[in-house]
Amino acid sequence: MKVCGEFEFLGSGRYFIALDLPEEESVIKIPRPLRPLTVRKRELKKWWAAHCRRAKRIKKAATADQIFRMLLQSKTVDVHACFPQTDILDEVDVIFEWEGRSKRYQGSAYLQQRVDFFDKYTPLDSFNWDAIIEIQQHLWRAGIGLGSAAETWGPKNWGRTKNGEIRLVDLSSLNQNKNRVSTLLDCTLSQKRRQRMVQFQPLRCQGQIDPYLTYIGNQLNQESLDRLWEAGF
Ligand SMILES: Nc1ncnc2c1ncn2[C@@H]1O[C@H](COP(=O)(O)OP(=O)(O)O)[C@@H](O)[C@H]1O
Ligand SMILES: [Mg+2]
Repeated sequence: MKVCGEFEFLGSGRYFIALDLPEEESVIKIPRPLRPLTVRKRELKKWWAAHCRRAKRIKKAATADQIFRMLLQSKTVDVHACFPQTDILDEVDVIFEWEGRSKRYQGSAYLQQRVDFFDKYTPLDSFNWDAIIEIQQHLWRAGIGLGSAAETWGPKNWGRTKNGEIRLVDLSSLNQNKNRVSTLLDCTLSQKRRQRMVQFQPLRCQGQIDPYLTYIGNQLNQESLDRLWEAGF
């Protein structure tokens, strides 16, 4: 499938932006456009820091992309049970509006089934908590985990397909570094997520925040990581 033309901007993250493909019930995910790095006198340190942050972001997205491509080839990992239908398009040529300007992107992209995307406001009583655990544990068995606290503890960056299945939608935290995955399981991280949830969960779900984090933490922890990491199927 060759995707080219003008598309509506749907949403952006740190690494990717999604463009809408309504007739396909899909989105195209392309790298987030980079802002020019301007150098001002005496601000070289700032410029260098911004340059390093950008380089790190590009590297992280490339690593996640490599892992996802590997997963698509895998004969053991049940990719369909973990992610919404996602294909790789080797070459797209798309035009879209970005920060008030028309932009063009040519290169590879993801074609992903459109989902009900979960963000920081997604109520805890609106989805099955088990999916967040089961999918991560399934990936752990292949030596793959999530390298970002939002994804590890959910539900931000997860989503519901039109068939009602909960899946990991954001691919950019895929990680093969067990230490990184392990760090995010720490209770200091769950406490940070707790603070965010207290701020953004609706009133009716406030009482579910602690049970939710305890439930996730009981299944996703150092002991289960050591037991399941690269354990196979
Ligand atoms: N499959 C999808 N269906 C609907 N919206 C999506 C989908 N994937 C991404 N989006 C939108 O695009 C944004 C960025 O995508 P995401 O995969 O989270 O990229 P990033 O890794 O940069 O955070 C999301 O916050 C969401 O608004
Ligand atoms: Mg995201």
